[in-house]
Amino acid sequence: MAFKNFTEFHHSIERNVFVMLGLTFITVSIGGLVQVIPLYTIESTIEKVEGVRPYSPLELAGFNIYLREGCYLCHSQQIRPFRDEVERYGHYSLAAESMYDHPFQWGSKRTGPDLARVGGKYSNAWHVAHLSDPRAVVPESVMPTFQWMATRPLKFGDVQAHMRTLRTVGVPYTDDMIANAKDDLASQKNPDADNEGLLKRYPKAVVANFTGDKTVTEMDALIAYLQVLGTLVDFTQYQPNQFQQ
Ligand code: HEC
Repeated sequence: MAFKNFTEFHHSIERNVFVMLGLTFITVSIGGLVQVIPLYTIESTIEKVEGVRPYSPLELAGFNIYLREGCYLCHSQQIRPFRDEVERYGHYSLAAESMYDHPFQWGSKRTGPDLARVGGKYSNAWHVAHLSDPRAVVPESVMPTFQWMATRPLKFGDVQAHMRTLRTVGVPYTDDMIANAKDDLASQKNPDADNEGLLKRYPKAVVANFTGDKTVTEMDALIAYLQVLGTLVDFTQYQPNQFQQ
């Protein structure tokens, strides 16, 4: 095909819908490949950060209750890198901090405050009081009451199955962690128990009798989970890489 000039060449493309579609497809594919191919050459898009670990069995049970109750409908778990957020909630969230959350809890709605760093902000007793009756501690609160959780025994027969399932999607639970799951779950609620193994497997896990009851209740699990949120990375040691200054 010979064309007299560029305009004629252009017309031959623009007036033929199939040629136009074919060339558009090729152009868009090149753009897509340029974005996708480099991702195959790196192991992970998430920078690993020291301290981040999978949830302990009790925390995991709490995470599941958090999902079941839809806490994410009112609470986000992602501190954005803006000055107002960082001043209110603490260091902005790192991708690694939620890498073991399946599903992730970043959320898009903040009827209540962000919870990404709520761990250690309040005492266990405060959480019991707050979950039982939010208005007892924050008079203007619109958060629902969850007092029934304090007396509902935690069903944890399936905790090992949950851990095994999470392992299939990349959460590094070891055989040792799964084998000890039920003991670890019970001993996290018992400060008098020998918790050495638990704390070795799950450093910084908060060991306490959260509700003061003998049985492990749903509220124990939920508070164990809330108390660890955002506490795993030591930000006095953390150095952001050169792209994040
Ligand atoms: C209808 C919306 C709503 C739902 C659902 C909800 N919350 Fe809240 N939450 C709030 C509001 C509003 C506040 C702020 C007032 C207060 O402290 O009670 C709050 C505060 C909190 C706080 C204190 C945060 C801080 O930094 O002071 C925690 C912890 C919390 N919620 C946990 C939970 C958990 C766990 C669940 C699920 C079991 C849940 N919330 C469900 C609305 C909600």
